[in-house]
Amino acid sequence: MAKITFITSDKESITLEGTSGSVMQLAVDNGISGIDGDCGGVCSCATCHVHVAPEHVSKTGEASEIETDMLELDENVSEYSRLCCQLEISEELDGVVLHVAQ
Ligand code: FES
Repeated sequence: MAKITFITSDKESITLEGTSGSVMQLAVDNGISGIDGDCGGVCSCATCHVHVAPEHVSKTGEASEIETDMLELDENVSEYSRLCCQLEISEELDGVVLHVAQ
């Protein structure tokens, strides 16, 4: 089980608990504003873009090449950007804070 906190673009903080599946699915299932998951989680839409809190980057690890290529198409990319459909919920993610990209 992992607690994952989303900070939406209007600065609302929402903490959800998940046990399995992707962070994108957890967000979509709970109506997190700004996470749409249009491609269903196959890394081809970037509507699940988040910026990982800098102090939590070690929890999420690094983006794959395919993910990085997709992110490069997004204007609002940063060194902390991830597509959260590529983040599997696990104990390692517990406590992570993700800022929803605008
Ligand atoms: S849901 Fe489409 S890239 Fe993540």
